[in-house]
Amino acid sequence: MVLGVEFDDAALTARVEASVQRTEAALEAAVRSSDGFLDEAAGHLFHAGGKRFRPMLVALAAELGDPERQEVTTSAVVVELTHLATLYHDDVMDEAPLRRGAPSANARWTNSLAILVGDFLFAQASDRVATLGPEAVSIQARTFSRLVRGQIRETIGPRDGEDPLEHYLDVVADKTGSLIATSARFGAMMAGASSEHEQIVTDFGERIGVAFQLSDDIIDIASESGESGKTPGTDLREGVPTLPTLFAQRSSDPADAELLARLSGPISDDAVVEQTLTTLRSHAAMSQARAYVRAETDAARERLSGLPVGSVRSALEAICDTLTTRIT
Ligand code: IPE
Ligand code: IPE
Ligand code: MG
Ligand code: MG
Repeated sequence: MVLGVEFDDAALTARVEASVQRTEAALEAAVRSSDGFLDEAAGHLFHAGGKRFRPMLVALAAELGDPERQEVTTSAVVVELTHLATLYHDDVMDEAPLRRGAPSANARWTNSLAILVGDFLFAQASDRVATLGPEAVSIQARTFSRLVRGQIRETIGPRDGEDPLEHYLDVVADKTGSLIATSARFGAMMAGASSEHEQIVTDFGERIGVAFQLSDDIIDIASESGESGKTPGTDLREGVPTLPTLFAQRSSDPADAELLARLSGPISDDAVVEQTLTTLRSHAAMSQARAYVRAETDAARERLSGLPVGSVRSALEAICDTLTTRIT
């Protein structure tokens, strides 16, 4: 099961599920601490759930080599711990109250403690990646560096004269595409797949990672309830531009003047956030954003043409389908 979808090949599905389970057990140990508070706080978001999309991608890419190797599980732990740590930090940055259907760490404790717990999780990831050798350490460091750069550039916004949409797409590739590309890469690499296949799944991961974030941005506007486990409209509240709002901002229709004025900065009033969400949901910018995600997933799918036809390729293609169905 990936994002609620089963792959065609039942044996492959079972192997991937078993691999994610092994990762889960190792993660559980990695978020533990002898310090009572740290143990509770680091386990908080781990136990709250999450799709485990990145470990699943590691497991799937590992199917291009020997997926049973211990290093495959270790690398899946590394990417999920890195992801988990960024969630602690991201919710501080976005002042988000809810994550994985639970209070965010910053809401439950404080910003300072949420940041420190995130740092602890990064340290745990570093400890484990060290066992995979210097190349893996370097890949992890460069991935993390891109991720941080993306978060910083999102915070600072486009430079004077820089196209906001291009800026946003660069941000998304850095903050999300980077780690998803590395998940696929680690899977192939740790399983001993060919360097050609490793390159293909890395490119695929980058592309599907971008589509994943874009679809998540659409869901932030489109979902009416807590189905995402996050508070809808968080991006609007913070004044963070996303694909639908950037498309809306390109409109010169006078009927959009009020909407554009609201999108130009953060919105503090809950009723105004709700109203803006309602306006956006039926705006042409949403269908434009959905079409853009479909084109991105098609581009990701094309990257797979260098893989042999078979169950691994079909499963990766099924992920593309899932990303487009989750926004329709
Ligand atoms: C959330 O990632 C942050 C984004 C990159 C959109 P996920 O959607 O993978 O979050 P969890 O792990 O399922 O909670
Ligand atoms: C999350 O970005 C990306 C990282 C954690 C690096 P967002 O702020 O867009 O994601 P959500 O919506 O909070 O999950
Ligand atoms: Mg956020
Ligand atoms: Mg954010």
